[in-house]
Amino acid sequence: MSKKAPLVAGNWKMHATLAEGRALVSAIVTAAPGLGNARMVVIPPFTALSEAAKLTVGTAVGLGGQNIHWEDKGAFTGEISGPMLRDAGCDYVVIGHSERRQYFSETDATVHKKVGAALRHGLTPILCVGESLEEREAGKTIDRIGAQLDVGLGETGRGDAERIVFAYEPVWAIGTGRTAAPAQAEEVHAFIRGKLEEKYGKPTAACAIILYGGSVKPANAYILYLERDIDGFLVGGASLEADSFVGIASEALRASKEE
Ligand code: PGA
Repeated sequence: MSKKAPLVAGNWKMHATLAEGRALVSAIVTAAPGLGNARMVVIPPFTALSEAAKLTVGTAVGLGGQNIHWEDKGAFTGEISGPMLRDAGCDYVVIGHSERRQYFSETDATVHKKVGAALRHGLTPILCVGESLEEREAGKTIDRIGAQLDVGLGETGRGDAERIVFAYEPVWAIGTGRTAAPAQAEEVHAFIRGKLEEKYGKPTAACAIILYGGSVKPANAYILYLERDIDGFLVGGASLEADSFVGIASEALRASKEE
């Protein structure tokens, strides 16, 4: 059975000047028509969003922010709101990335508020979940992911849940060069889909997009994408070079056509 078309999102984190960003987005936009119905999304730092929007508007390449505050405006120094992200041209926003949880004290409860804000402003949340190495070694992976989903989604209704993209990113695989084995990733992806089925029913779960993230590169994208419940990737390091980012999308597309 062939799979749905892949979604490949590139989280640049705290990288790229305007000139670097423009060059990277231009190269990705140029490559996009050769990638069939694979969808690529670039997620630059806030400073580069509006420049990136000028290059992606009207193309198949989507644009996302790396964070969102739950309020629309106010005295929240250093934060960015949903209306600002929309104004800058974003369609997506990453929420609850493990680096935000680890270094900026984000919790499942704040993640939930951010998901609500994104949905309210017509942004597609990319809701990140993942366990630490300690949690994995203690056999707590599934419990941890389950709790992140339960609290992160809260009372989100089915219609809204259908607009969320999920990303499973084991913390121990992010930026470490250590990728989860395809079967390890698939186990968690299947759990996430099962959880969505429990909450929202089979059709919603079947259509949900669940990305894998953690040291994804062109060399491992094909084999990961062959797994039934992996619908695309959230890429960090390898999204900073057009060749490797586009290479990942192209490998995922190739795997999506396997019978
Ligand atoms: P990585 O980062 O691809 O550099 O491991 C993934 C992420 O943090 O989204």
